[in-house]
Amino acid sequence: MAGEAKNLISIADLSKDEISGILSLASSFAEVLRRPVKKVPALRGKTIVNLFLEPSTRTRMSFELAAKRLSADVVNFSSGTSSIVKGESLKDTAKTIFSMGADAVVVRHQSSGAPQMLTKWVDCSVINAGDGMHEHPTQALLDLYVMRERMGGLEGLKVAIVGDIEHSRVARSNILALNKVGSKVLLCAPRTLLPAGIEEFGVETTVSLDEALGWCDVLYLLRVQAERIEGPRFPSLEEYHENYGLSEKRWDKLEKKPLVMHPGPMNRGVEIASSVADEVEPSIAGQVAAGVAVRMAVLYKLLSGSVSSERFEREQ
Ligand code: CP
Repeated sequence: MAGEAKNLISIADLSKDEISGILSLASSFAEVLRRPVKKVPALRGKTIVNLFLEPSTRTRMSFELAAKRLSADVVNFSSGTSSIVKGESLKDTAKTIFSMGADAVVVRHQSSGAPQMLTKWVDCSVINAGDGMHEHPTQALLDLYVMRERMGGLEGLKVAIVGDIEHSRVARSNILALNKVGSKVLLCAPRTLLPAGIEEFGVETTVSLDEALGWCDVLYLLRVQAERIEGPRFPSLEEYHENYGLSEKRWDKLEKKPLVMHPGPMNRGVEIASSVADEVEPSIAGQVAAGVAVRMAVLYKLLSGSVSSERFEREQ
């Protein structure tokens, strides 16, 4: 995303300094969002299309709000009411959107690599809002933003990511991002949900949740992604909760409570007990709130052309 870069497809595209720049700019936008009038004219005249071909609550709404807070025009594309149901391809859909003057397409797709393909078909910015099991870069950026705000820094921070690592684009983006900023990552899952060779990403692994809980400053829980899992990976959801869920018993036993995070949607009673979910809800709501400021920062960085983020920060 350096200099003239116009797309955000993977956290691998960003340097440590660029991540830091986005988080700083997001802080400025968070300040805007605390004002009575939560809007700036930064992207007036720009058009942003939300092309979500897989379900989403948080990401789609926060990209829409982020664009509106920056005064851009926003179009939400819904596959169920589009010509996709008549068989129109992603390529033709993308070209149609670009022909109508989009400056950016925010895309979520069930196939890994779809946003990268889009960059070959359109001449506007493409932002990956989650592609298959590949990546979800803006989720990782907002997670880092929250960790930095809540824990006072990222260097040396101990983050345990627990759950369905294999099918998680959130885990992949977070591992890349946390490695770049100098945090330590421990992955915790049953062996059947840990991809082979994951240690090559510079992370440690464990099959013991109690070990992860005793080690971490931040406990990042993941949903079991039933829609992506082929065949049984564990005996039952009850047994999964017993071994890998943040149960009331485990939570109450902890002398030093970690910051608990979850990208949503949560499966209450599976990766987290419902009562614990209610207790840690403020920090998870904080992730959702941070999503708007961080996505404002990403849209601004990509679409403001030669206007530097420093100028935005100076003018506020
Ligand atoms: N975290 C996340 O991607 O949530 P949604 O699927 O609701 O967008």
